[in-house]
Amino acid sequence: MKILVTGGAGFIGSNFLNLLVPRHPEHQFLNIDKLGYASNLHNLSAIEGCSNYHFARLDLTDVDGVNDCFEREAPDVVVHFAAESHVDRSIKSPTGFIQSNIVGTFNLLEAFRNASHTPSRFHHVSTDEVYGSLGPEGRFVEDSPYDPSSPYSASKAASDHLVRAWGRTYGLPFTITNCSNNYGPFQFPEKLIPLMILNATEHVALPVYGQGLNVRDWLYVDDHCEAIWTVLEKGQLGETYNVGGDSEKKNLEVIHEICDIVADLRGEDPESLRQLITSVTDRPGHDLRYAIDATKLERDCAWRPRESFHSGLEKTVRWYLDNPAWVESVRTGAYRDWLATQYATDRSTHD
Ligand code: NAD
Ligand code: TYD
Repeated sequence: MKILVTGGAGFIGSNFLNLLVPRHPEHQFLNIDKLGYASNLHNLSAIEGCSNYHFARLDLTDVDGVNDCFEREAPDVVVHFAAESHVDRSIKSPTGFIQSNIVGTFNLLEAFRNASHTPSRFHHVSTDEVYGSLGPEGRFVEDSPYDPSSPYSASKAASDHLVRAWGRTYGLPFTITNCSNNYGPFQFPEKLIPLMILNATEHVALPVYGQGLNVRDWLYVDDHCEAIWTVLEKGQLGETYNVGGDSEKKNLEVIHEICDIVADLRGEDPESLRQLITSVTDRPGHDLRYAIDATKLERDCAWRPRESFHSGLEKTVRWYLDNPAWVESVRTGAYRDWLATQYATDRSTHD
């Protein structure tokens, strides 16, 4: 089988390829990625010599490029990760999110629908953020109403709707997964967990939006990748599966645990790291709480997450400490400019 993976040089896509390419020599994997700021081909150095893995640089907004790629490669399956993915960037500058996440998905769906061969499945990787915010109770199920808050989540919601519409109207064979927040190796250090790990190791401020009481439901990235593979193997066409690790944490709890692990691994005082926690201006439209009910995936496809939050977080902290060259390679001038703009308004310190 030939599997076209979009966005495979980003965080989740590269973990997916690193896990699945060596395990499935019987399949061909083609990674297409525009190589945007959050991508890094070094993430894939472990598999670049594999004969069942190939990379091609392609921006999904290039409609002719996407169509040519489909005709040339004739993939059987598409696993669509490619997207602009950072909520704060979407608030500052939404245009690229509309282009990549909506127009890019549209171009890919059209190439799939109009292909001269008959591909068998379009798997769309999406997020629980499409459902908007929960109050203190309840969890998202597959038919929770869509109510996105940010330009990022609205663009992902639009892409989910396109995929389902192409299914209903044109009979396009699709599956969708909506997953909670991921963490693990290769995550670009603009997202909460890698940013806090790096700041704690460097003893600089740990910026918490508002009071740090927002809740996210965390899943180790390999568990998400295994869930996607399980859906490819066992998921019913036309179905959506929620993916989550039953690991709800307030942001402050996450940061405290990071401080404890970093301190433990480096023989430092956890209290002095916790004192770096600084309240900064809250994110506009900041969703209070996400929580996933993954019963359908567990029941229908026999998927279970392997990592607990603590074991996954410890692996993640170790990975960032053990890979300073990777960290250095992603910290370009553009990254430093982003931090300077985003966190220019630090105002108080948590006690
Ligand atoms: P990421 O930003 O690390 O990687 C995205 C990749 O897509 C990058 O390599 C980027 O270069 C590529 N890309 C973006 N626009 C493109 C375009 N127009 N053409 C080709 N390539 C393009 O993001 P991630 O965290 O790996 O997320 C991957 C997918 O998983 C996204 O669709 C995201 O919505 C979804 N998701 C992420 C999380 C999470 O916690 N990170 C949770 C649930 C779902
Ligand atoms: P993030 O990693 O950006 O993921 P998402 O917004 O997609 O859930 O943020 C996770 C949570 O952490 C979210 O509630 C916002 C918060 N956060 C901070 O408090 N400080 C930060 O510097 C960042 C990046 C996020």
